[in-house]
Amino acid sequence: MIKKSKSCSDKIVKKDHELISPSYTRSYPLAIDHGERVYIWDADGKKYLDFTSGIAVANVGHANPEVVKAVKQQAEKILHHAGTDFYAEIQVKAAEKISSVTPGRFRKRVFFTNSGTESVECAFKLARYYKKRMRMIAFLGAFHGRTYASMTLSAAKILHKDHFAPLVPGVTHTPFPYCYRCPFGLEYPNCRLRCLDYLEDEILKKITPPDEVAAVFVEPIQGEEGYIVPPKEFHKKLKKLCKKYGFLYVVDEIQTGFARSGYMFASEYFGVTPDIITLAKAIAGGLPMGACVSRKEIMEWPPGSHASTFSGNPVACAAAIASIDYIKKKKLWKNAERLGKLGLKYLNELKEKYEFIGDVRGLGLMIGVEIVKNKERKEPDAKRYKKLLFDAFKKGLLLLGSGSTTIRIAPPLVITQEEFEKGLEIFSSVLEGL
Ligand SMILES: Cc1ncc(COP(=O)(O)O)c(C=O)c1O
Repeated sequence: MIKKSKSCSDKIVKKDHELISPSYTRSYPLAIDHGERVYIWDADGKKYLDFTSGIAVANVGHANPEVVKAVKQQAEKILHHAGTDFYAEIQVKAAEKISSVTPGRFRKRVFFTNSGTESVECAFKLARYYKKRMRMIAFLGAFHGRTYASMTLSAAKILHKDHFAPLVPGVTHTPFPYCYRCPFGLEYPNCRLRCLDYLEDEILKKITPPDEVAAVFVEPIQGEEGYIVPPKEFHKKLKKLCKKYGFLYVVDEIQTGFARSGYMFASEYFGVTPDIITLAKAIAGGLPMGACVSRKEIMEWPPGSHASTFSGNPVACAAAIASIDYIKKKKLWKNAERLGKLGLKYLNELKEKYEFIGDVRGLGLMIGVEIVKNKERKEPDAKRYKKLLFDAFKKGLLLLGSGSTTIRIAPPLVITQEEFEKGLEIFSSVLEGL
């Protein structure tokens, strides 16, 4: 028998396992070589249709030529300028651009970061500093990152916290309206958002003194938990509650931001304006960057109280400007909204056909398909879910997992209808073989 030689991808995966921290979360052995628009090629030259956008990052498509051009031009000028200590026009321009697109027509200030978790750390510190209160409210099912404050705010998987205690003191979690699995066993709208009453009547009366709470941290749509879209009135009511008690309303748009939800920011869909907004992922078309943006009067803290060497890196700033300009020029939120509706319709039809599709939900091009053992008991079906992810990969379609067993569908927002339908057909053919 001729021994089959190992592929380039196999060799990369093997070396990765030897050299790199095993804490990364890989669902299938994809070793990426390059990407273009909505496609990825692996190290052996196999082409994939990307329904992940590199985890909601490549909204403007992989290797977007306008972003690449801006990066090249800036890289030739200077790669690093130490934003902690020196000024740069490109950084000011990026702040101006970000301020102009984020919700709220008021004066703002921007703190640049290098990742989502850092944006949340900044918001956490800023909220404490501004309010001179130490407690925070966050939601069950939330994911805000993996450094200490953001990890403490998160409550999606016990694995994220296991053996990392002690966490940051002062965070209380309260139920999020995950209506498919309502923690109160109720149904919307008859529930009248019992989850918010629970926060006010139980948490704030029995556990967490409201005059010690600095802020509520919330994702407009929970990402890591499986694209959980709350009822539309939820955020308005939550913000009202924040106002009543003097809490800052901090919205984590790291995954929902930059046109993914069919709106530039999902806060617009819910009709709310955050006091502080955290950003990252798609902000710079694929370069590592994040930002924490607040009302101007909130971000008043002394030099040195918060800073970072790479903060506002000039190449990342150039990429952010080009990426935001591209999103605006192409009105990518419109494509996300139109194809998102089409996707929801198609996937809801599949839900009728298969007993193991428990729920289909989403907004724009962020759609969750929850895999269960059967519709009645809603028990997560981990085996079928893992097979689905793997079989799709084998058929050239990249999907993302989330929650206990929810498939996330989040292609680059430049995807055409034809490409999107092609991906959905592959998805459907994978379901047939499960
Ligand atoms: C809503 C949200 N917040 C924060 C983060 C953390 O971002 P990062 O992985 O860049 O630290 C993520 C990442 O998935 C996220 O989805």
